[in-house]
Amino acid sequence: MELFLKAVLIIFLIVFLGLFLFSIVIIVVHRKTGGALFVPTPRVIVQTIMEHVDFSPYHDIRELGAGDGRFMAAVEKTHGRPVTGYEVNPLAYLLCRLRLGVSGLSSRVVYRSFWEADLAGAQIVFCYLFPDIMPRLGEKLAQELDKGALVISANFPLPGWTPEGIIHSDHPVFNDPVFLYRIGAHLKRPGRR
Ligand SMILES: C[S@@+](CC[C@H](N)C(=O)[O-])C[C@H]1O[C@@H](n2cnc3c(N)ncnc32)[C@H](O)[C@@H]1O
Repeated sequence: MELFLKAVLIIFLIVFLGLFLFSIVIIVVHRKTGGALFVPTPRVIVQTIMEHVDFSPYHDIRELGAGDGRFMAAVEKTHGRPVTGYEVNPLAYLLCRLRLGVSGLSSRVVYRSFWEADLAGAQIVFCYLFPDIMPRLGEKLAQELDKGALVISANFPLPGWTPEGIIHSDHPVFNDPVFLYRIGAHLKRPGRR
């Protein structure tokens, strides 16, 4: 019985310390993330994106806020193309490095804010961020990406932009929209050619 209580206490302490560390990290990186917390995209949504978008013709694919690397790994495993991701949350960064390393993938994650990254030349940009930062992100993407580049935003639209498509998973719970935008056509009014 004493051993059982000790085990419960140790598990409780580990969980408590884990949550404490997680919260501290979120507070420390908040200035850079602007509220885009480390919440991974549900697997079924990643899967839906893999089914709808053919990444295989593209060579420069980026992810803004790589999280645990599940999107990057899915692109490389499904379409054979490596992704460059940016991440500022140290826990997420380490998880991402671990995932890519263990799976032997050549995608890479950079420990840097994507606001400081030059996105010129990127052909596909994926993000799952936070509504408050989408207006600023839209300005950056419109300034740095070339005509024809594809922007994929999970859950949150880019304000004032017109998507060329919106996809959903058919899962009863995890069915938030994923917005697809094409640079050059992103300001067209819906229905206009
Ligand atoms: C909602 S999570 C999504 C993670 C991953 N993209 C996914 O789909 O599973 C947003 C991630 O973006 C990261 N992030 C937010 N602002 C960032 C910034 N300025 N530079 C790099 N990463 C950032 C957060 O740390 C967090 O891991």
